[in-house]
Amino acid sequence: RGRTLSFRRVPASLDDADAYSYETDGALLVENGLIVASGTYEAVKTQAPDGVPEIDHRPHLILPGFIDTHLHFPQMQVIGSYAANLLEWLNTYTFPEECRFVETAHAQRIATHFFDEMVRHGTTTAVAYCSVHKTSADAFFAEALARNMRMVAGKVMMDRNAPQGLLDTPQMGYDETRAVIEQWHGKGRNHVAITPRFAITSTPEQMSAAGALVREFPDLHVQTHLSENRDEIDFTCSLYPDAADYTDVYARYGLLGPKTLFGHCIHLSEREMDAMSETGSIAVHCPTSNLFLGSGLFPLKKLVNREKPVRVSVATDIGGGSSYSMLRTMDEAYKIQQLQGERLNPFESFYYMTLGNAEALSLTDKIGTLEPGTDADFIVLNMAATPAMALKAEVVTSLADELFLLQTMGDDRAIAETYVAGMAAKAELTG
Ligand code: GUN
Ligand code: FE
Repeated sequence: RGRTLSFRRVPASLDDADAYSYETDGALLVENGLIVASGTYEAVKTQAPDGVPEIDHRPHLILPGFIDTHLHFPQMQVIGSYAANLLEWLNTYTFPEECRFVETAHAQRIATHFFDEMVRHGTTTAVAYCSVHKTSADAFFAEALARNMRMVAGKVMMDRNAPQGLLDTPQMGYDETRAVIEQWHGKGRNHVAITPRFAITSTPEQMSAAGALVREFPDLHVQTHLSENRDEIDFTCSLYPDAADYTDVYARYGLLGPKTLFGHCIHLSEREMDAMSETGSIAVHCPTSNLFLGSGLFPLKKLVNREKPVRVSVATDIGGGSSYSMLRTMDEAYKIQQLQGERLNPFESFYYMTLGNAEALSLTDKIGTLEPGTDADFIVLNMAATPAMALKAEVVTSLADELFLLQTMGDDRAIAETYVAGMAAKAELTG
């Protein structure tokens, strides 16, 4: 029981109340990990069997769990590395760190921390890159299974332009991705994503292997990086001189499509945006990372409002990103739009963190809403979680104010509770 908020579609404006349902005295009825009823407390109560235990979260706000559509599991110790730009950051800090994930014990230790941070920050589904090593994917999926969380992840495919300890081969990348799919896809709530890191670290032969996997497993998600940094774009075009542009590199190997998540997409040309739009590919906005690495300002409004709109999702991009919190992430997304003379209203922001990201993953039948029949993954938000937030909360007079306060000042402290498949989830290492 609590105030409940769930979206139906993207809000067209601040006043578009049809885009969401909000109950000031709402409730969810949960059974076997699913939401079986939602609505007003009175209506839900009539559907509840006698003796069902009630948890009262008033005055807090209940939302579908946050979804993070792009982050890197082996980069928890890369966060905050002092680099001038993407390629320096990758070569100096990120690649050496990812080499450590060849060790099972290390991968398992970081996996425990990773899922603890997800729970603490109210992120109930994440789309993660593991390292090149199958061991890292095994550790990740084993932990996701143990915690019964809906996760999407993939063993990274990379066979050039990185240290020896971080390279597979076209055949190995193919075989090990297949092995990860067979071992983990559909086990518990696990989803395997086909994950060529980006065009710079894959030979044309490996890109072909990734394309073959996409044809063999058309239902799987695909994830990679696209158009993040000018030097990255130039290097990519020099490696693939026959391609019209960066996006065309992926198109040539059959990697564009409605299940493909392209991290960043900051500097796309109109032709590339058209190609993204026509294939239903998703541009994943990673605001804290784009600011931290100085990559550029994501043209969110331009992408979604153009004649041929591009699908957009939002993500932390840990460890290029600097916060696990989707609230911190959307605060930075807001500022990035401000710098471009655009507005991102609080309803849109909360739509993106929940239903919008579920739509990007084609998983709205399972996550991103409080609709009956979907997974009981939801969070409880406290807008007065810190003294400074409580002070500001005194002058909050609307739901929009409350959401904007949560986004502007909130972080993991604002997450009063995280429910995974109907159960209150706790961080294991620190409670
Ligand atoms: N491009 C290729 N790999 C990476 C990565 O790990 N992080 C970011 N931000 N961009 C990338
Ligand atoms: Fe990334």
